[in-house]
Amino acid sequence: MEGKEISQAVIRRMPRYYRHLGELLEEGVERISSNDLSRRMNVTASQIRQDLNNFGVFGHQGYGYNVNYLYEEIGKILGVNERHNIIVIGAGNLGLALANYVKFEKLGFVIIGLFDINPALKGMSVRGIPVYMLDELEAFCKKNRIDIAALTVPKQKAEAMAHRLVSNGIHAIWNFVHVDLEFSEEEVVVENVHLSDSLMQLSYNMIQKRQDAIRAEKKTE
Ligand code: NAI
Repeated sequence: MEGKEISQAVIRRMPRYYRHLGELLEEGVERISSNDLSRRMNVTASQIRQDLNNFGVFGHQGYGYNVNYLYEEIGKILGVNERHNIIVIGAGNLGLALANYVKFEKLGFVIIGLFDINPALKGMSVRGIPVYMLDELEAFCKKNRIDIAALTVPKQKAEAMAHRLVSNGIHAIWNFVHVDLEFSEEEVVVENVHLSDSLMQLSYNMIQKRQDAIRAEKKTE
């Protein structure tokens, strides 16, 4: 497995496997065949086998997959078996929403501080997570291990802020701002989350569906 380049398409499917396996565990299911997992996830059994083989995780003929083992292995692959400290830069609507969401912690993603420039937020906290002023960032980074910074600042501030984070030793950015951050992959990993992209995709599929229905209606006329 080491050194093998795994496609991003495969990586993007892994959280979904993890989620379904977690649900199976909650339902008390101990083992599952790739066919049953495939039906449940609406992915072909061969896709599941191929995806998991990438990581050296194999099912057993006639047995299928041990749900707990697979859940733990995928958890390790995704790094959710360890704690990741996160800071959120920009304690506005989105930053506060992230800090208010409790389930990230269950996956090991722990928000340990928010940073903002608005003095009105000084001394505040969200679910016990303190809001710091931005000028405290450097000292905070020296004192704490930070694995990920979530970027939820206005667009015009994002690029400079991202570079400031990197110069403070942060090499993973969860970017919500609609800008393409310019970093080499060796330097920093960036994950962009754009709800509007997802909405536009939904809108495209919705329009296609509507047009298909119109075409089908015309055919029957
Ligand atoms: P907001 O205006 O509620 O919050 C922005 C916060 O950033 C404010 O509290 C402001 O004081 C603070 N801020 C400004 N400059 C800063 C700096 N240099 N350092 C630290 N904090 C600073 O805005 P909202 O709605 O929370 O959106 C934040 C960003 O996220 C925007 O860029 C917006 O376009 C983007 N966004 C992205 C979404 C997505 O799906 N990716 C969805 C919603 C918003």
